[in-house]
Amino acid sequence: MDQKPLGSTSATVPAIGVGVWRYGGGVKPLRCAIDLGASLIDTAEAYGTEKVVGEAVQNIRDRVFIATKVSGSHLRHDEVLRAAEASLQRLNTDYIDLYQIHWPNSMVPIGETMRAMEALVDRGLVKYIGVSNFSTAELRAAQAAMTNHPIAANQVLYNLNRRQIEADLMPYCDANRITILAYTPLDSGPLARDAGSSSNPAAMAVLEQVAAETHRSNAQVALNWCVAHPGVVAIPKSDKAARVTENCGAAGWRLSAVQMKLLDRAFSALDDD
Ligand SMILES: NC(=O)c1ccc[n+]([C@@H]2O[C@H](COP(=O)([O-])OP(=O)(O)OC[C@H]3O[C@@H](n4cnc5c(N)ncnc54)[C@H](OP(=O)(O)O)[C@@H]3O)[C@@H](O)[C@H]2O)c1
Repeated sequence: MDQKPLGSTSATVPAIGVGVWRYGGGVKPLRCAIDLGASLIDTAEAYGTEKVVGEAVQNIRDRVFIATKVSGSHLRHDEVLRAAEASLQRLNTDYIDLYQIHWPNSMVPIGETMRAMEALVDRGLVKYIGVSNFSTAELRAAQAAMTNHPIAANQVLYNLNRRQIEADLMPYCDANRITILAYTPLDSGPLARDAGSSSNPAAMAVLEQVAAETHRSNAQVALNWCVAHPGVVAIPKSDKAARVTENCGAAGWRLSAVQMKLLDRAFSALDDD
């Protein structure tokens, strides 16, 4: 599995990981992902899936990069500390690799939240700090509030159909060495299906054409397009080991410049909301 640097840290993460929001697949698909090198697992205190992640990483904790999140409703200093401790218990581990603020909360001063996030790193309970659903302005403010540690990642919506971050946030993250964790990289499934069943059949026909040319599936092309950008890692979710295996096959090869351009053109017209 291709590795990418995690922000400005010395850590690396796989180009393709797995997400476990609304996940019901049990331990097997997660073990399958880890065995195939998709060893970044993204969960959250709000998902109700930290326990199954804890079960999946038992005895192989050192091979897995666990990303979890504190909810945006728990961003007071002591709430962050309590949320992290509860996540550690559910995950049955003594450290979190990447601890992310799930969504911003303008009611809590960002400096207070970041002080707690940094305290967790200083105590060895968290390795790296991330945020999620932060705009460029929110990210800038969060960075300014850090004293000892960098913000390593911002987890945001990104896929062929949803490219809003390309205008501003992505260039900002590139310039500041902040990894983008692309969530919902299959647009919740439609990018993995046939053009015929799609609400945007013309663009999907181009995806299918590229899939045929590369002897890959639609899902693999859509995910490869996502991670073709050097600063982006994708975290698709599947309950099924066979699909996890398919999604892992999205890394380790490259779309040509011509194929990238074809996809960019076919899908860019849709990105108008
Ligand atoms: N930070 C945030 O606010 C936020 C928000 C949303 C998501 N996320 C993260 O991003 C992860 C992924 O996003 P997501 O779950 O919203 O959407 P997604 O990964 O784009 O799509 C998941 C859907 O696609 C299907 N699927 C996956 N691989 C497939 C394949 N190869 N062929 C056909 N269908 C396939 C899955 O069905 P099956 O399971 O039946 O295979 C599921 O219905 C989440 O689990 C979570 O970790 C974060």
